[in-house]
Amino acid sequence: MTATSLVHTRAELASVLDLAQGEIAVVMTMGALHEGHRQLIREARKRSEFVLVTIFVNPLQFGPSEDFEKYPRTLEADMAACAAEGVSVVFAPGRDDVYPGGAPAITMHPGPLGEILEGASRPGHFSGMLTVVEKLLMLTRADVAYFGEKDFQQLALIRRMVADLELGVEIVGVPTVREPDGLALSSRNRYLSPDQRRAALALSRALREGAAQTDPEAVLAAAHKILAEEPDVRVDYLSLTGTDLGPAPDEGEARLLVAAKVGTTRLIDNVPLRLQKGA
Ligand code: PAJ
Repeated sequence: MTATSLVHTRAELASVLDLAQGEIAVVMTMGALHEGHRQLIREARKRSEFVLVTIFVNPLQFGPSEDFEKYPRTLEADMAACAAEGVSVVFAPGRDDVYPGGAPAITMHPGPLGEILEGASRPGHFSGMLTVVEKLLMLTRADVAYFGEKDFQQLALIRRMVADLELGVEIVGVPTVREPDGLALSSRNRYLSPDQRRAALALSRALREGAAQTDPEAVLAAAHKILAEEPDVRVDYLSLTGTDLGPAPDEGEARLLVAAKVGTTRLIDNVPLRLQKGA
């Protein structure tokens, strides 16, 4: 195993990229790495010799009342995880390395897909997210970048940005990694008390029960029922959509998505499912 190098500045990043051979695979993260992030890295490593992980808690994608300040920062443990997964380079820039001129005047506009679901609840989030993803794709000279289906709308928006703006990068989606009891892994799970963690299981259970149905109304009814049984879960949305996040089809592949607050922690999850008429 070769050592993983850690670089902080754009200049350091450029020097290691000048030496990179073969395609450049990138996994972008905000750190506090868990098995979900590690799965993205493993997928990248299956195909590419040179894998670069970015760790940056992007202030632009946090709302004023969100958890930017308290977001976990665990660089030492993250470096150990990256080394264990055979990552070539970790790019952990400071704010000024990503935004040297301060907050950018020109940012990404996510369009209609950015206004629904998470976009409706978190104004500005997707604009900030897409802005940093575009910058990191350019700074890292990515040929291919890996993103989790856990953040399904984020993945859809990134694909759309890359297509609409001709960014010439391949985007690979990776299925959600879960705890054995179903909870989707998230850096924010560490905010949950043991009781809240138990309550949070209602999200994945609702999605699982919903996805076991095939009639659209039955899907939503089954999922709603589970969520309603858990008083500590305050649902923001439960939505059945097409795989492009448009209206759900009568038949075929669809997506069931949920967002809820447990205490002050906002959690999201989603699953694929197949719909069938009159079933
Ligand atoms: P972060 O929440 O750290 O997630 C980094 C990547 O890991 C994202 O692509 C996310 O979808 C993926 N991921 C998180 N939990 C996962 C799980 N349980 N299973 C599979 N993949 C999972 O998403 C972000 O950071 C930021 O918005 C970012 C893209 C880095 C831009 O700032």
